Amino acid sequence: MGENMTDVLLRVENLHVSVGDTPIIQGISLEIKRGEIHAIMGRNGAGKSTLANVVMGHPAYEVTSGTIHYKGQNIDDMEVFERARAGMFLSFQYPAAIPGDQVGTFLRKSVASVRGEAPSPRAFRKELNEAMKQLDMDKSFLSRYVNDGFSGGEKKRLEILQMLLLQPDLALLDETDSGLDIDALRIVADGINAVAEDTGCMIITHYQRLLDLVRPNFVHVLIDGKIVQSGGPDLAIKLEKEGYDWVDALV
Ligand SMILES: Nc1ncnc2c1ncn2[C@@H]1O[C@H](COP(=O)(O)OP(=O)(O)O)[C@@H](O)[C@H]1O
Ligand SMILES: [Mg+2]
Repeated sequence: MGENMTDVLLRVENLHVSVGDTPIIQGISLEIKRGEIHAIMGRNGAGKSTLANVVMGHPAYEVTSGTIHYKGQNIDDMEVFERARAGMFLSFQYPAAIPGDQVGTFLRKSVASVRGEAPSPRAFRKELNEAMKQLDMDKSFLSRYVNDGFSGGEKKRLEILQMLLLQPDLALLDETDSGLDIDALRIVADGINAVAEDTGCMIITHYQRLLDLVRPNFVHVLIDGKIVQSGGPDLAIKLEKEGYDWVDALV
């Protein structure tokens, strides 16, 4: 794919975001192109989830200055569902349980909503079977209630299953690796790698172990709502070894 403007999926410029009166994101600029994987790292409370949530259009977060462009368009006025329809996907750090809603039905509804039309039951079953096979998920999963009594690993696998079905252009993955055992981590990583070539990915993670399996093009360190350092995969390795203390000196 050539280097033209259409390859830039997300362009964040000098973004400032508040929750209520509290400024959280304080001047972030970031550009994600199709096919690129950007890892966002940083201590708890740095503003990583806020960044992902505000890009997805979460109403709790107010853009106080700066801009977010997606596929070349300012998306300030777009609702969450419009962003999803335009190809954005957010995998939650803490996926919510929806007791009473079965996984199979939930996935079919979400696919129908994002695509703007419901796939035929038959075509959908085929898609679903393939994706579940890829993620090594048992069919009994489909009749369980969404995230109700799910283990951490099952919740994350469901997020990735949803992503495989939706085939997003921009995937925002918030700590999708937390709570996973080694086998589940590998499966989730395979799922991410399966879409990564045609997708722009923002992967929020605390752990190098995911980045061994999903190689980032860029690693950004967030402190107090600012990106204080950007680099390649080596930066994540350095953080794993040395922690964040050395980065504080850059603030
Ligand atoms: N919806 C919210 N309401 C109130 N405070 C929030 C909300 N979301 C985030 N914050 C605050 O913003 C800061 C950054 O949070 P967050 O983006 O979740 O950090 P991270 O994901 O890097 O751990 C924290 O101090 C957190 O308490
Ligand atoms: Mg977070």
